[in-house]
Amino acid sequence: MQIVHSLDPLRNAVATLRQVGTQAGTRAGTVALVPTMGALHDGHLTLVREARRQADAVVVSIFVNPLQFGANEDLDAYPRQLERDSRLLEAEGVDLLWAPTVEVMYPDGFASSIAVAGVSEGLCGGARPGHFDGVATVVCKLFNQVLPDLALFGEKDWQQLAVIRRMARDLDLTRPAADSILAVPTVREADGLAMSSRNAYLSAPDRARAAALPAAMRTAIAAIEAGEDVAAALARLEADLAKGGFGSVDYAQLRDARSLEPLDARSQAPMRLLVAARIGGTRLIDNMAVAPA
Ligand code: PAJ
Repeated sequence: MQIVHSLDPLRNAVATLRQVGTQAGTRAGTVALVPTMGALHDGHLTLVREARRQADAVVVSIFVNPLQFGANEDLDAYPRQLERDSRLLEAEGVDLLWAPTVEVMYPDGFASSIAVAGVSEGLCGGARPGHFDGVATVVCKLFNQVLPDLALFGEKDWQQLAVIRRMARDLDLTRPAADSILAVPTVREADGLAMSSRNAYLSAPDRARAAALPAAMRTAIAAIEAGEDVAAALARLEADLAKGGFGSVDYAQLRDARSLEPLDARSQAPMRLLVAARIGGTRLIDNMAVAPA
C-alpha cells in the first residue's frame, strides 16, 4: 500500500492504479474512494471491504477536517493514529492511502465553501452550525483530488449521505456521479451500539449505558410501526434515554428517509428515525429505518 501526503504524488499514484487495472484485461481500472477521518474501526473497514468488491483499486483518505468542527468541538481531541490505521488498511488490501496535511488541503488564501441547503438544515446541521458546509467542501475536494469512479459512505451518518448525494446531483459531479455514491449499512457492536471513533471517549460505565440508545430507538420504531402516535413514541424514547443515563437529547425525529422532510405521523414512504444524544459529555448519533404504513 502506498501512502501519499501531497497532491502530485496522489495524482500519479491514482493514474498508475488505473493503468494497471486497464492492462490487466478483465479489469476496467475502476477506482473507489472511502473518505474517513481515521481512528478506524470495523465500520470503516466494512466500507473498505465493500469498495474492494465494487472496484479494481481502493483509495482510502484519512483527514481530520478542521472545517467541519465547531469552535467548541473535539477537533484537538479527535483521535489521530495514522500508523495503526495504515496497518489496518494494508491488511485489507487497500492500494493507496491519501493522508493530506491541513496545509495541502487548505493552503494560505483558501476561501471557498460549498453549502447544501435543505437536507443540511436541522438535525446535526441545527446542532452543529456550519458542520455540513465543512463536510461538503472537503468531500468535494477529495472527489476532485482522487477522481474516483465510486465513493462509499456509511448510513451511520444518514444526513451526511443525503448532503453529499444532493451536492453531487446539484453540481453535476461525474467522478463520482451521484448514483455512484454508495451507502453501506451501519455496523454495530454486539450490544447494538453503532461503531464510532467517538465511542473511545466513553468511560467504561458510560460505554455500557450507551446501548440504551439503539434499544430505545428499536422500542420507538416498534411502537410507530404498530400505529402508535409518533409524538408519544418519541417522548417515550427521550424518557428512556434519560432513564438509561443520557444527559440530554439534541434531537429525536422521524423524517422522510430520502428528502429528510420532518414527519409528525407515519407516512407511506420509507422513513428514518434519527437521534443525537449526549452521555458523559460525548455526543452520539444513530439512525434506523422505519417501515412505511
Ligand atoms: P468518519 O466519521 O471517519 O467516517 C468515515 C465513513 O465511515 C463515513 O462514511 C461514515 O458514515 C462511515 N462510518 C462510520 N461509522 C460507521 C459504522 N458504524 N458503520 C458503517 N459506516 C460507518 O464521516 C466522516 O468521517 C467525515 O465527515 C468525512 C466524510 C470523511 C468528511 O470529512
